[in-house]
Amino acid sequence: MVGAPGAGKGTQAEIISHRLGVPHIASGDLFRAAVNDGSPLGREVKRYMERGALVPDELTIRVISERLNAPDAVDGAILDGFPRTRAQAEALDKMLSQRGAAVAAAIYVEVGLDELMRRLSGRWVCRGAEHVYHEVFRPPRRPGVCDFDGSELYQRPDDRLETVRARLERQLPPMYEVVDHYTDRGVILPVRGDGTIEQVTEDVMRQIAQPARRG
Ligand code: AP5
Ligand code: MG
Repeated sequence: MVGAPGAGKGTQAEIISHRLGVPHIASGDLFRAAVNDGSPLGREVKRYMERGALVPDELTIRVISERLNAPDAVDGAILDGFPRTRAQAEALDKMLSQRGAAVAAAIYVEVGLDELMRRLSGRWVCRGAEHVYHEVFRPPRRPGVCDFDGSELYQRPDDRLETVRARLERQLPPMYEVVDHYTDRGVILPVRGDGTIEQVTEDVMRQIAQPARRG
């Protein structure tokens, strides 16, 4: 899943991973878990995340590569937020080709700037497993409590306005290079992200049901 901060990658990846029966692997979730653990990896990545900057490629590629080698990912995965640079996209191609596999589809969720700001400013996330809510668009059944695991909801520190601006400014240019990379490979699937959560899911499912456009 490729898209700007707040485009709905995590929301859609969660739903689609259940529908397809493959794990949802989110680089941001892996990094936030490391930060919460206070591990050396967490201390390292925190410096970048709190500034709205990308974590260096080498480190990011190592973390994703380890996760993709876990037994539950042998039949595939929904990657959310990775790759985010051309170098990461090339590293992923290499990792997968060593397993005789390839990226089947790069779902590009497109959302306008005003809507991104509305989504990020109203987002709440659960401490248990990063289930995603929105105070207007996807409220939990009980305020402040996750529907799925009962854990407390919190607002991500990088959803503060100034950090959101930095994320958009720094991260959109490399994201467009990733979109170009998958366009060149014939696997990009653009999806209009400004509909309701259900409409976007149906659009994604329709797109991935189409025959591969590669080659
Ligand atoms: P990460 O956690 O990946 O953040 P992000 O890309 O900025 O994306 P978000 O998680 O903010 O948004 P999303 O698209 O998942 O939207 P969501 O579904 O939550 O990365 C965090 C940081 O980690 C980065 O800044 C960077 O420092 C580092 N990092 C991560 N990966 C990296 C990499 N590969 N390389 C280097 N560094 C990396 O939805 C947003 C809100 O909108 C929610 O409230 C949701 O309920 C609502 N919503 C969703 N869909 C809809 C809809 N259709 N209608 C209405 N509301 C909706
Ligand atoms: Mg996310």
